[in-house]
Amino acid sequence: MAKESGEMLGWGAVSVALSAGALLPLRRNAKFIMRTVPNIKSFFVSLLKWLATWHMPIGAVALALAIAHGALMYFSEGELEIREYMGIIAIVFAGVAAVFGAVLSKNKASSLIRSTHIGLLLAAGILVAIHILS
Ligand code: HEM
Ligand code: HEM
Repeated sequence: MAKESGEMLGWGAVSVALSAGALLPLRRNAKFIMRTVPNIKSFFVSLLKWLATWHMPIGAVALALAIAHGALMYFSEGELEIREYMGIIAIVFAGVAAVFGAVLSKNKASSLIRSTHIGLLLAAGILVAIHILS
């Protein structure tokens, strides 16, 4: 029971994190998307606004779900091997990325802070992919 709930929390963390990260590809391709599907222009603009407004809480929820997943898996299985260490390092990277995210919210023009935020999350994402597939 705890294991199944734990697995669901893990997938929940992945989906919520993807909606936080969707901001980048959607923004980067905004012109193309609006040119290709002009009908959804006003919906798309509101979606981008919504994602930008809620990005920080969405990211925090993803991190909380991942921590709850890790704790539940550990308590139900009691294993701490390569797979679990990958998950722990991913959580640490995402936590540090969140700190950079908080700094970024006060210095939006800094490309160094933005790249650090994104780079750490990219590294965490790669670790999570290995964690899921291993
Ligand atoms: C960013 C952090 C993490 C994410 C996004 C994540 C996500 C996931 C996902 C999606 C699965 C697949 C579940 C399934 O098989 O249906 C999984 C499996 C697992 N995770 Fe994580 N995880 C993270 C961190 C951790 C940590 C820190 C631990 C433990 C210390 C952990 C322990 C496990 C275990 C034991 C499994 C295997 C479940 C099985 O037996 O199939 N995870 N994780
Ligand atoms: C799973 C968690 C997260 C992911 C995948 C993620 C991903 C991203 C990405 C890809 C961008 C670049 C968007 C762009 O330049 O268009 C970004 C920007 C940003 N992130 Fe995150 N992030 C996460 C969590 C957080 C958290 C927890 C915080 C704050 C505590 C945060 C604060 C920010 C800020 C302030 C920006 C700049 C937004 C803007 O320019 O309007 N992020 N994030």
